[in-house]
Amino acid sequence: MLSLPGFALVTGSGNGIGRVIARSFAKAGAAGVHVADISKEVAQDASEEITSVATNPKFKALASVVDVSKEEDVKEMIGLTKSRFGRLDYAVNNAGIAEPARLTADVPIEVYDKVIAVNQRGVHLCMQAQLRMMRAQNAVQLDGDRPSARGAIINMSSGLGLVALEEIMIPSYATSKHAVVGMTRMAAVGYAQHNIRVNAVCPGYTSTSMMANEGLGDVSSMISRVPQRRFILPEEIADVVLFLASESASAVTGVAWAVCGGRSA
Ligand code: NAI
Repeated sequence: MLSLPGFALVTGSGNGIGRVIARSFAKAGAAGVHVADISKEVAQDASEEITSVATNPKFKALASVVDVSKEEDVKEMIGLTKSRFGRLDYAVNNAGIAEPARLTADVPIEVYDKVIAVNQRGVHLCMQAQLRMMRAQNAVQLDGDRPSARGAIINMSSGLGLVALEEIMIPSYATSKHAVVGMTRMAAVGYAQHNIRVNAVCPGYTSTSMMANEGLGDVSSMISRVPQRRFILPEEIADVVLFLASESASAVTGVAWAVCGGRSA
């Protein structure tokens, strides 16, 4: 099992994939996990749950409310991480929303703006604040002659950040998730010399409440096009996120890793 002894922040971790990622950090020995979500109730509930499975005896849980599309909220979230944890080793920008299925010409501009604000602007704002904090704390640490992998950011993109899929027609979402891959690559190159790694994970159809949204389209037809013919489990996404955050991935930066049962390959 991977060991992740540092402090983690996971956005949108009150539910779904983010919650499982937060839990996985706690199980993998993290010193602390900041559960940040737009819903206070689920953030609180998740932070209590993950505390009960934490393996580090000094584990600190932190729950906070954030709308990642708002600059002030993001500042507050990072300020809390700083004051409660003192440092940030792993940040997962996971918060995201979908939209009802439509062709491009039919997308109302309000829907487009909202999806871009949360999925694209939100990741940009969070990543900026995290990069500043990690940069300030990162006197480059060497573990033997191998640079320590601490200072890892993982952005949640999507299979729709890599390709367009005819069975799920959500244009603003696909736009935002392609942008996440672009900003990940740019930051990876920009911060590689500062010992900060930035990667993206691109999940396929994963069994969460997002996929239960009927507006997305015919789920059984989606799954029938996946080479593995099944939903991905949130735990399978979390395993890849934790690997990318870990010392085992110390030379991995700027990748967009599909975890999609072969659908976006
Ligand atoms: P979910 O809907 O189950 O959970 C999303 C969480 O984000 C919720 O707890 C929600 O309260 C929170 N959230 C929503 N807007 C927010 C905001 N403005 N600020 C802070 N928190 C906010 O979704 P799921 O499925 O767990 O998705 C997580 C990420 O994975 C998203 O970025 C999504 O786009 C991505 N993804 C999901 C796939 C799937 O099939 N479920 C496939 C590909 C990508």
